[in-house]
Amino acid sequence: LKQEEINTQNKKFWSEPCGTISAHKLGITSKKREEFLKYDEFFFGYYPYLKSYINPQKNDEILEIGLGYGSVSQWLMEESTKATFLDIAPGAIEQVRKRAELIGYSRGRFVNESILEVQSVAVNSFDKIVAIGCLHHTGDFHKSIESCYNLLKNGGILVFMVYNAFSYRQFLQHPLNSLYCYFKNEFLSDEGMAFYGAESENAVYDQSSGGESAPCTQFLSKNAISNACAKFKSVDISIENIGGMANRIFGSREKSIKSFIAKKLGTDLYVVCVK
Ligand SMILES: C[S@@+](CC[C@H](N)C(=O)[O-])C[C@H]1O[C@@H](n2cnc3c(N)ncnc32)[C@H](O)[C@@H]1O
Repeated sequence: LKQEEINTQNKKFWSEPCGTISAHKLGITSKKREEFLKYDEFFFGYYPYLKSYINPQKNDEILEIGLGYGSVSQWLMEESTKATFLDIAPGAIEQVRKRAELIGYSRGRFVNESILEVQSVAVNSFDKIVAIGCLHHTGDFHKSIESCYNLLKNGGILVFMVYNAFSYRQFLQHPLNSLYCYFKNEFLSDEGMAFYGAESENAVYDQSSGGESAPCTQFLSKNAISNACAKFKSVDISIENIGGMANRIFGSREKSIKSFIAKKLGTDLYVVCVK
């Protein structure tokens, strides 16, 4: 797909904020303060490690990219940071704008643009950029990183999460190919691995309430990320998360997300880079 086509599809697909399926399962049907609270309690309970990666400081100028249901956005508002919220999808922006309105947060800026073609945000202007589960959907991971780098102040921090190209899920689905690629690109060389998932694979990760999968999903290895982030002073990569099936093996999600599999072969890579 051409970039223009990916952008058009992303705008449409993500205007139903991701997390809508979970919200429906929780019985959430409207955009009221208490319904958002209920969703956020579920969200941060499901990803208990998330806040510690983001670690916002009170006077930080923060840019959040890829807002989804807006739980992280709302938390940044409550921590009373000065934040800019950027998303390609009008529906995601509207949802976070609504959240801000409900809690009377007036320090926010809302930018409905793509991180690949930012126009209304100044370069060298942020202390922290947060992009959870977003940069792998843009259609151009390298350009997304480049853009984040430019928007950060010197010494600024980029925190992002992308999907792991060498997670247990990939090894289960394509055992031989994954092993071969792992040894060739990740273990014996520092080339790294980045690939676009097939539609059916992407559906396991992101799906709309109508059953569609995200228009574009990229999977990245640690080396591929280190290469793309080579301009940063430091890059720290951690592995997290495991699917619901594992709860049966380990007894609970609380235990499964702390397991060896989640920490070594989990589905998500959390990256903290310093410019
Ligand atoms: C899976 S959601 C992540 C939401 C949220 N951060 C979370 O963790 O629940 C991905 C978000 O990235 C946004 N996105 C996709 N491509 C983008 C782009 N090129 N520029 C800015 N945002 C984009 C989508 O609109 C969507 O809101």
